Amino acid sequence: MSQSLAISATGLVKKFGGRRVVDGVDLQVPAGTIYGVLGPNGAGKTTTLRMLLGIIEPDEGSRKLLGFDHPRDGSDQVGYLPEERGLYPAMKAREAIAFMGALRGLPWSVGRKRAVTLMEQAGLGYAVDSKIRKLSKGMAQLVQLLGSVVHQPDLLVLDEPFSGLDPVNQENLEKLIRAEQARGATVLFSTHVMAHAERLCDRLAIIAGGKRRFEGTVGDARGRLPMQAHYTPERDDPAIAGILPGEARHNGREWVFPVPDGGIEAMLRLLTQSGYGVAGLSIERPSLHDAFVEIVGAKALADAEAAMLTEAA
Ligand SMILES: Nc1ncnc2c1ncn2[C@@H]1O[C@H](COP(=O)(O)OP(=O)(O)O)[C@@H](O)[C@H]1O
Ligand SMILES: [Mg+2]
Repeated sequence: MSQSLAISATGLVKKFGGRRVVDGVDLQVPAGTIYGVLGPNGAGKTTTLRMLLGIIEPDEGSRKLLGFDHPRDGSDQVGYLPEERGLYPAMKAREAIAFMGALRGLPWSVGRKRAVTLMEQAGLGYAVDSKIRKLSKGMAQLVQLLGSVVHQPDLLVLDEPFSGLDPVNQENLEKLIRAEQARGATVLFSTHVMAHAERLCDRLAIIAGGKRRFEGTVGDARGRLPMQAHYTPERDDPAIAGILPGEARHNGREWVFPVPDGGIEAMLRLLTQSGYGVAGLSIERPSLHDAFVEIVGAKALADAEAAMLTEAA
């Protein structure tokens, strides 16, 4: 690859209690990109990120982070939002941000000034002097995120940054991630929600059961599935299924099916000749979510959700 890599990992393995929860993951994150690590709950995303950052050591495999063989040597150039959040409740927001910067070597005075600017840009200017305990959970999470960028890191690693945010703050976070990329940073984030990834990612990896199942652009992922036809007949009838491809789903008044290789003209002619008519027709690209379900497998996804419920109980 000609472009330089912010992260390069090969064959990462992590075992917990004899179980390989990360089972040979490769990851190449080109510098300057927004990169998504996608996967269902329990896929091994957090464990992978922790290995990349040097918080835990892999049992097998190797990784390089910002050119460093040991990731912790680069930690002053890294910003990290862990999955389990936490700030000191008695600190003022501005101090909490400066404090996180100080941990990465940023002078306090610089951190305090930048904290105010960052909070204003994020629409939280009114809360700079509020104590963390006075903030809503979502606001505190954004403050923690600002604390992870205040030292202007080259690499930003965000573990499920969107979870726990309301839609307005999710949008603020998307803006912030784009602003970090515009500043020149590489952003790596994990999520199990496809919509954010679809809008943000230059590239993405899909992990399931500790293994990487896909790597490429959003377009590459969506391109794995054929275009979908959405057809609404004028006169609906179960017999229509006999004319459509076997995979057709009946969804209310609408029939949804993959566009056949030769196009849908012949099929439409047959439908009109049979008197079903055409009240509506659109042809749509499958979403990243559709591709995700196809790559991970509907059953594996259901199993992952069930396992999480058992774990939480
Ligand atoms: N410290 C640990 N000890 C034992 N099992 C763990 C530990 N951390 C994670 N796991 C297990 O490893 C699997 C992957 O976890 P994780 O990396 O958190 O997945 P994800 O972030 O994709 O939801 C899960 O089944 C989880 O319960
Ligand atoms: Mg996780």
